[in-house]
Amino acid sequence: MEIAVKEWLNEEGEIFLENIGIKKGDVILDFGCGDGPYTIPAAKVVRKEGKVYAIDKDIESMHKLMEIAKTKGLKNIIPIHTKSEESKINLDSESIDAVLLYDVLHYMENLERKKIYEEIYRILKTGGILSVYPKHRKSDEPLWSLSDMELDDVIEEISSRHFYLQRKFYKKLLHNGNYNTGYILNFRKSVLNK
Ligand SMILES: C[S@@+](CC[C@H](N)C(=O)[O-])C[C@H]1O[C@@H](n2cnc3c(N)ncnc32)[C@H](O)[C@@H]1O
Repeated sequence: MEIAVKEWLNEEGEIFLENIGIKKGDVILDFGCGDGPYTIPAAKVVRKEGKVYAIDKDIESMHKLMEIAKTKGLKNIIPIHTKSEESKINLDSESIDAVLLYDVLHYMENLERKKIYEEIYRILKTGGILSVYPKHRKSDEPLWSLSDMELDDVIEEISSRHFYLQRKFYKKLLHNGNYNTGYILNFRKSVLNK
């Protein structure tokens, strides 16, 4: 395992997640978890009082994640393998304290992103956190669906789906097994007037 990944999984990732607002006892969803660079630290931060649902469409990454979880003795990660065309998240409404959407938005076309924001809105508790790492934007190694969007476009898109931006961080983080710096956007679920 690379040095950066080791450091991240041992300590740095936990500090990062605590800074963005994850705490003991929380129920987290890591959507597009990959092999778990954020799932593993999240499971440590929430401790046995909390849990982390880890969703991905790539079964091999999920196997890898669960192997790492096993070696670290973590029993509070619940893997959910999904199909990419599924826009429904198989979790109860208002059951989640925070959703991590890290380095995954660029995989989704406009309509798919909208459906995912709707589902995230449904499963988040009132006041819950939607934390987004929108990598691969126009001015940040552009790739696929975000390649024509700037950071402000991402903020506007998510804000238009009943979230408000609470905080924007510029942080050292792990990306593809290496340290990088990037923007993390923390949104909160708005209360809709009925
Ligand atoms: C670049 S990786 C990021 C992994 C991790 N979140 C991180 O920040 O290191 C993106 C992951 O999202 C998954 N993914 C992309 N679209 C998805 C979808 N619609 N449903 C579930 N997983 C998806 C991919 O399979 C991949 O494992």
